[in-house]
Amino acid sequence: MQIPNSDKSYQIRQFRESDLDTVIKINRACLPENYPSFFFLSIFYKYPKSFLVAVHNDNTICGYCMWRVEKGLSNFALRWTKKGHLVSIAVLEAYRRQGIGEALLLKGMQSMKEDYGASEFILEVRISNSSAIALYEKHGFQKIKTLSGYYRDGENAYLMAKRI
Ligand SMILES: CC(C)(COP(=O)(O)OP(=O)(O)OC[C@H]1O[C@@H](n2cnc3c(N)ncnc32)[C@H](O)[C@@H]1OP(=O)(O)O)[C@@H](O)C(=O)NCCC(=O)NCCS
Repeated sequence: MQIPNSDKSYQIRQFRESDLDTVIKINRACLPENYPSFFFLSIFYKYPKSFLVAVHNDNTICGYCMWRVEKGLSNFALRWTKKGHLVSIAVLEAYRRQGIGEALLLKGMQSMKEDYGASEFILEVRISNSSAIALYEKHGFQKIKTLSGYYRDGENAYLMAKRI
């Protein structure tokens, strides 16, 4: 899988516990879905290789993604499967449209597949979040169904999935 960071304006690396406060700040700045620190850490302890941060060459941690594995019925066939679930992804506004979100997504999927055995990927996204939907569709995610009132404020989500 190609990771488009050849311009070297940023690096993708694994999350470290010392990144926690920064990642929480990015999450709060970018998304209404916020979590307590133990939630981030519980994902990190279980799936450390797919919990990634983007570090810009100006030394700013400017994005993250975290994933977990869920076992369940495939969205594409009648079989039980391991799904890599994108729990959260965000890039600080000043660092967007440079390929960083894409690099986090691709590297996260690569790790979910190679390190944790996922054979498809799933995520939920607000139906109004056109930039994120464009990112996911660019990388082969399909809208599987609408989840009515999925978010706390009542907005619907698309469940999107991608097979490997
Ligand atoms: C979604 C998000 C992570 C994308 O990060 P990013 O670093 O700006 O994305 P990239 O530069 O890697 O863009 C990759 C592709 O995504 C799509 N995309 C990203 N931002 C877009 C926008 N504002 N409008 C349209 N398409 C967009 C494009 O297809 C783009 O490919 P292209 O550059 O070849 O056109 C970022 O907008 C973000 O953090 N949003 C707030 C948090 C959020 O919504 N997270 C997702 C929750 S489900």
